[in-house]
Formats: sequence, C-alpha cells, structure tokens
Amino acid sequence: MELKSLFLRPLPQGVIERLHRMRLQATALRYSNDLIRLGQLFKTDKWGEHWYLRHYETHFRSIRGKRLNLLEIGVGGYGDTTKGGDSLRMWKAYFRHSNIFGVDIYDKRQFEEKRIKIFQGSQVDQAFLQDMVDQIGGVDIVIDDGSHMNAHVIRTFEILFPLLRRDGIYVIEDTQTSYWPGYGGSSSDLSHPGTIMGYFTSLPHSINYEEILRSNYSPTEFDRNIVAMHFYHNLIFICKGDNAEGSNRIHRNYMSDRFILEGIDDHLSSNASVQPYRREVS
Ligand SMILES: C[S@@+](CC[C@H](N)C(=O)[O-])C[C@H]1O[C@@H](n2cnc3c(N)ncnc32)[C@H](O)[C@@H]1O
Repeated sequence: MELKSLFLRPLPQGVIERLHRMRLQATALRYSNDLIRLGQLFKTDKWGEHWYLRHYETHFRSIRGKRLNLLEIGVGGYGDTTKGGDSLRMWKAYFRHSNIFGVDIYDKRQFEEKRIKIFQGSQVDQAFLQDMVDQIGGVDIVIDDGSHMNAHVIRTFEILFPLLRRDGIYVIEDTQTSYWPGYGGSSSDLSHPGTIMGYFTSLPHSINYEEILRSNYSPTEFDRNIVAMHFYHNLIFICKGDNAEGSNRIHRNYMSDRFILEGIDDHLSSNASVQPYRREVS
C-alpha cells in the first residue's frame, strides 16, 4: 500500500475521539485554576444543569495542588459505552498532581488515560469497594454521582467514609432524590432515616457528640471522624478529621454540674452573684 493512500484513509472513530480529548486537555491547561471554565470545556452537567462547581471551588481550591486520590462514583453515559468520563477529565485538569479514579456499574475503561483509572462494579458492593481502595492505596476525596438511589447513597457512605483518609472530603450530589419515591425517597416524611436528607441531617449531632449527656456512651465512627458538614442545594460535603476538641464542661458524656442539669433559673436563685446574659424583651 502506498504511504500517501495510508494517510488519506479516514481515521477510525476511536482515534478521532482520543485526539479530540487530547486537544481538550491541552486547552484546559489555560483554565486549570478556573473550575467553572473547565466544567464548561468538558461539558459536565455539574455546571449549567446543576450549579455545583462554585461549591466545589470553595472546598477544593486550597487543596488542588496536592497529590491526592479522587474517586468519583458514576462515570456517566449509563449503558452507552461511547459516552462518559466528562467529569473525570475535568478533575484531572483541575487537580494537576492527583490521580483520578472512576467507578461505574458499566464497563467504562475505554475512557482511561494517564492519571485516570476506571473500575467496573456496584457502589453498594462492599468487597469490590474495599478491594479497589486497597489497590489504589487510599482515597482523599469521594464524590457520589452514581445511582442516586436513597438506599445506595447511604450504604455507599457507610462503606466508604471509614476508608477515607484523615482530612478527606466526601461529597454527595443530586440529593433531590431524597424527596422522590421512585428513588426510595419521600416528600411526606422528610426526616425518614432511610432517605438521604433524613439520614444526613441527623449526622451533625455527631459533630457535637461530646456535649450530649448520656453515661457509658461509646462514640461511633461518625462521632469520632466528622468535623464539618455543608449542605447546599442538592449537594452535601462531609469533612473528615479528628473530632476530639473536647467539651468545655462535660467529660465522657457525663456531668454533675447543677447549673446545666437543673436549669439556669434554679441556679440563679441559689447563687445571686451569677448574672447571665439575657436578651431584653420589649
Ligand atoms: C449521572 S451519571 C454520572 C455522571 C458523571 N459523574 C459526570 O458528572 O459526568 C451516573 C452514572 O452512575 C452509574 N451507576 C448507576 N448505578 C450504579 C451503581 N449501582 N454503581 C456504580 N455506578 C452506577 C451509571 O451507569 C451512570 O453512568
């Protein structure tokens, strides 16, 4: 075959797409500190359809230069094997020194590239998730953008949060399914513990667990390791750390101080020198 005719033949579709993705990564170098521009460039639905990227910038800006392992559940495209990977490519461009991992129930490995590795499996398969985290050697950021089924989101958190490294960040997208019956949610019982919002809005008590009066209490994994939670429209961030500041008044969830046990008025009547702040009522 003549060399000339070899070059004139159309390139296979897979090669064209790969070249297109390489060109995008090269363009992305110009905007690598602007997550919203990157989201638009890589056409993720995290900006435009949703407005998540401004919140991601708030939480990720100070750590984007680090060497991290970021894991996103849900590569995208569902059963269409030609589609997916938009957000993984965006994260790769934003976190220039990090490794990006994706998980999907479908085989999406054709979207692997340098610093992007993809696993096939279910977000509620504990053995699969444990094995994957062992293989990659730990994870600093988890983003759950998978099935959005209420039971799955809760189960995945219970499996993966304990495996997250200290100072890690766990993100849950599309929490609107908490209100949708088709996803196991409810619009009538908003605090139902089986719904995403019912479950996660009870967790901030863990942040304050050292203040709650209950003798012989053994702190849970979440008590000991959740230091902050941020709720946005359809989006939750949960920050992991050592939650052990200690209480100013209570030791091991037990206290004998009458001031706290019997109420401020009883205490005032027996100790006139204490003058607490009281708001004036007009
Ligand atoms: C909304 S898309 C992800 C979009 C992608 N994160 C992005 O921003 O470009 C959801 C993906 O989750 C996958 N998925 C659904 N159920 C899953 C499960 N049980 N485990 C893992 N992935 C699942 C779907 O195949 C689909 O590709």
